[in-house]
Amino acid sequence: MTTRWSTPPVLMRVLAVLAVVGQGGIAVTGAVVRVTGSGLGCPTWPECFPGSLVPTPNPEVATLHQWVEFSNRLLTIALVVVVAACVVAAVFVRPRRRRLRWLAAAMPLGVVAQAVLGGITVLTGLAWYTVAAHFLVSVPLVWLAVLLARDAWALGRAGESRVTTVPRAVRGLLVVTGVVLVALLVAGTLVTSAGPHAGDAATPRLDALTVPQLATLHADLLCVFLGLLVGLGFLLHAVGAPRPVVVRFRVLVLITLAQGALGGVQYALGVPEVLVALHVLGAMLTTATTAWLWAATTAPVPREPSGGTGAVASPALSAS
Ligand code: HEM
Repeated sequence: MTTRWSTPPVLMRVLAVLAVVGQGGIAVTGAVVRVTGSGLGCPTWPECFPGSLVPTPNPEVATLHQWVEFSNRLLTIALVVVVAACVVAAVFVRPRRRRLRWLAAAMPLGVVAQAVLGGITVLTGLAWYTVAAHFLVSVPLVWLAVLLARDAWALGRAGESRVTTVPRAVRGLLVVTGVVLVALLVAGTLVTSAGPHAGDAATPRLDALTVPQLATLHADLLCVFLGLLVGLGFLLHAVGAPRPVVVRFRVLVLITLAQGALGGVQYALGVPEVLVALHVLGAMLTTATTAWLWAATTAPVPREPSGGTGAVASPALSAS
């Protein structure tokens, strides 16, 4: 008799965490390529230069540009391997997990969508709206990767159902906060579209509004986001939210404040490349942490009804 192989939960967890890092990381390395003007650091594919798979001394292309572009290629390849492994691992999870499979399947689909968008971006000569869309697609992918990690952590439970750990009002306010975050991220890409780091020196910029006008809109949305976080903080306190929710909320507040400060500094300093790349990293961290907070508003159904996970007795959620 043969024993069927099943994915060890720890492997699924490691792959899910790598998916979070990869989906967020690719947006950051993409931004580094953009702000350093390294898009042609490796002018050929798959070789960096004719006859060399890796960067090599060349009088026409600076070594830094070569390595930046080459690192982006390496991360892309690593991400493809990770998302493919996520799908295979999710298929072999026992007992079967439907939502986990869907979340895993979304990872390679997202990478394909990014590849197509990347091609369109090049074909349109780095038009600002395609560059912005290319970045923004990473946002739902990071969010879904966080949910994948959440489900990977729940492996070993009897079923896939989850119950809410906080009252409806908290989740409702979090949805509103998430929507404002998306608006904040979109506004950020519009600032970039009008600014000096839109792609290539010759790329047409968004010129309907000026950088100061868009940066003001962007910062105003941060104020709305922070205001909602303050309200959320009071609400979590009032309802006696469980510790994981409170801890994640505090991490989100800290990351948001740091990201806001970084945004202000980079604006005041005339958007230096290093700070712009760090700001993109901060945007991904803000997204991932908001998703992580959302993930804590539900918990796997406890094995025993009296298991005491802090879960609110409410109908099980099948997908969120
Ligand atoms: C949680 C708070 C914030 C988030 C999540 C955020 C997010 C973003 C995002 C996603 C971008 C676009 C990056 C890209 O397309 O490559 C961006 C750009 C930008 N942000 Fe923010 N931002 C925040 C706060 C701020 C604040 C308070 C300021 C101050 C005015 C600011 C100034 C800028 C500037 C100047 C750019 C354009 C940089 C460039 O030229 O590429 N940000 N931000």
